[in-house]
This record gives sequence, C-alpha cells and structure tokens, in this order.
Amino acid sequence: MKTISSLMEMQATANQLCRAGRKIGFVPTMGYLHAGHLSLIKAAREQCDSVIVSVFVNPTQFAPNEDFAQYPRDVARDAALASEAGVDFFFIPETVEMYPDGYSTFVTVEGLSSLLEGAVRPTHFRGVTTVVLKLLELTKPHVMYLGQKDVQQCAVLRRMARDLNLDVIISICPTVRESDGLAMSSRNVYLSPEDRRDVPILHRSLRDAAERIHSGVLDCLQIRAGMEALLSSVPHASPDYIAIIDGETLQPIATIDKHRQTIIALAVRFGATRLIDNAIIDAVN
Ligand code: PAJ
Repeated sequence: MKTISSLMEMQATANQLCRAGRKIGFVPTMGYLHAGHLSLIKAAREQCDSVIVSVFVNPTQFAPNEDFAQYPRDVARDAALASEAGVDFFFIPETVEMYPDGYSTFVTVEGLSSLLEGAVRPTHFRGVTTVVLKLLELTKPHVMYLGQKDVQQCAVLRRMARDLNLDVIISICPTVRESDGLAMSSRNVYLSPEDRRDVPILHRSLRDAAERIHSGVLDCLQIRAGMEALLSSVPHASPDYIAIIDGETLQPIATIDKHRQTIIALAVRFGATRLIDNAIIDAVN
C-alpha cells in the first residue's frame, strides 16, 4: 500500500491508473476506521482493480459548535487496517492543501441539504458535497462506495452526481452493525457505558416499524407513535427527529406507498452524543 498526502501526486497517480485502463474504486472516509468502513473497502477490492481510500477529517462539514477538534483520529491504526484490507493507495491530504488561504468555492445541493440532518446542521452537507467533489477530482474513480448508514448523505451525493453529470458510479453498501444492533460509527467511542447499554433501542425501534409496515400498517402517524413509545422507554434518549420519508425526495409521507421506496430515519441524542440510523423499506412491484 502506498500512502499519499500530496494532492498533485494523488491526481497524477489516478490519471496514470486511468491511462493504464485500471478500474478505480474509491472509499472516502474521515478515518478511525471500523467494520463499516472495511465493508466498503471489501466491496471496492472485489469489484475494482485499484482501491483508493481517503482519510480526511473535513473541517467544512463541521459547524463551529461541533466536534471537529475532538473527532477521533488514529492514522497509524487506519493505515494498518487499510493495508490489511488490500487498499492500494491510502490518501491523507492536509487541510492546508485542501483549503488554502483564500479558498472560496463551495458546492450546494439545494433542497435535500436542508432537510433532516441539514435542518439541525445547516452547513453540513455543503461541506460534504464540496469535499467529495474535490476528492473525486483528485482520485478519478469509476466507482465511489458509500454507506447506507448515512442515508441522506447518499441521497445528496447521488443528486450532485446526477445534476453535475459526474462520471462516477455510486455504490451504496448496507449498514454494518454491532451484534446488539448498534450501527458502527467512529462517534460511538463518545458513548458512556450507560448510554452504550441503551443505544440498541434505535435499531429496535426501526425494526419494529419495519415489521409493522410489513404486517400492513401504512399510517405513518401510527408507525411514528410506536417508535416514539419505544424510544421513550429509555429516559435519557432524546429524539431530534423520527422521519418517515420518500426514498428519493426525502419528503415526509403520511401513508406508506408500497410501490415506492420508503426511508425511516432518526436522530437521537444521548447526552452530548447524537446518533443517526435508518431503515429502508423497498418498493414492491
Ligand atoms: P465517515 O463517517 O468516516 O464515513 C465514511 C463512509 O463509511 C460513509 O460512506 C459512511 O456512510 C460509511 N459508513 C459509516 N458507518 C458505516 C456502517 N456502520 N456501515 C456501513 N457503512 C458505514 O461519511 C463521512 O465519513 C464523510 O461525510 C465523507 C463522505 C468522508 C466526507 O467527508
């Protein structure tokens, strides 16, 4: 595995790989790699000739009051895990090179970026779309791998790719979970032992909602009420939102339409830690 931090070297390497006819798979991350990230790398390894993983804690997607400074970092450990997983290029750009003095260009996907996570974190997706567009230009992948765990991020990045005619396939991989259902996340290290015990309620409430839908309950108020009741059984869990939304527009729906994809998404605070999770109810045709 080769580690690259220079943007010019990354771009020259990617161009060379393209000229040599290699199919490039790219996995963007903010590091502190876990089994969720590794599942994306595995998919890229299986489907592509060259695998590039980036580790960059992107300052523009954090608001000033958020956890940029505390975000967990361990590049040496990440490099070891990436190398073991068969990554070819480990890209660790520097903030000063990504955002030099005078940096002033941002990409925004309007509409989708201001719903749900965007309502609570208004500048977040502008930072995500901007950094991902830059990373795509630097790594020139044929396929970019993203996790369903961040379902709104997937929708926003897909829309950016469609609207800007980006020549990249976006492949979305299922959420990897701990054995008790907690979705893996670099931020799980923030959880206190007590919260760690209680957080599987997120997945349980999503599973319960999915089961109700499959058993014929289509009224979203009723489904949400069931989820709220389950979540309120954990006294210090404080939901930011519980959303039942259309899979493409991310707009709230009142009644499940079995012929369209539905997403159930939630964000819940446990003390200072905010966790997100979701379930996808596929359309039946
Ligand atoms: P990060 O949170 O490090 O996640 C990197 C990728 O791993 C994302 O596509 C995310 O959805 C995926 N991922 C995280 N947890 C997962 C899990 N439990 N199962 C499967 N996939 C999972 O998302 C970001 O970084 C950043 O916003 C980024 C896209 C890198 C832009 O800065």
